Amino acid sequence: MTENPAAALKELTGLLKEWLAFQGRLGWQGTAPSEEVKQVREPGAAAPTPTLKEIREAMEHCRKCKLGRGRTNLVFGEGSPNAEIMFIGEAPGEEEDRQGRPFVGPAGQVLNNLLNKLGLSREEVYITNVVKSRPPNNRDPEPDEIAACLPFLQQQIKAIRPKVIVALGRIAAQTLLNTREPITKLRGRWHKYDRIPVMPTFHPSYLLRFPRERIKTWQDMQLVMERLAADE
Ligand code: URA
Repeated sequence: MTENPAAALKELTGLLKEWLAFQGRLGWQGTAPSEEVKQVREPGAAAPTPTLKEIREAMEHCRKCKLGRGRTNLVFGEGSPNAEIMFIGEAPGEEEDRQGRPFVGPAGQVLNNLLNKLGLSREEVYITNVVKSRPPNNRDPEPDEIAACLPFLQQQIKAIRPKVIVALGRIAAQTLLNTREPITKLRGRWHKYDRIPVMPTFHPSYLLRFPRERIKTWQDMQLVMERLAADE
């Protein structure tokens, strides 16, 4: 930063404008896109889709809900930015919060086993959650927390544009599909989110408690693999 106060102010204003433009590109609620951004855009043109890196950067400082203030680590998501399959869970647990990675605790073991059996690696799919900060004592995320985090998930889906989304459990399925239908009714059938096919299935934690239900998730995943194969 320069010593000259006028130049310093100009530099700061420039930085602030850049930051606002960036937030505008992310579709930040409460911060309208700056005049600069509006002028640069073609009239009527949609805002450019932010990259995963840009979305992550915006989230690092996000304190839009109480969970953001209490987390150890942001659990943004990981995998291929070109993934054909995107797995969306509910929210990080204790181990995920510690490591800053999704599905690395006991539920993650179940998901890893499923991926292995399907011949898929974690690196070739994309794994994330509806909510990116751990709810205390592993409680369900609350509606205001889901609402605060949802725009980021929507941006992640836009950036990746997977061929198929697998919604892991009730919270992910109901949030994406904007419904109150129970997961038992939603699973095993195709739905759509923004023209992307969505297959809801049981959450891996549920399968830990009810191992007999694994066959149903296996069947749901067969539908996913068949659809991807037909798409080639
Ligand atoms: N449960 C989830 O929904 N997501 C995780 O990342 C871990 C457990």
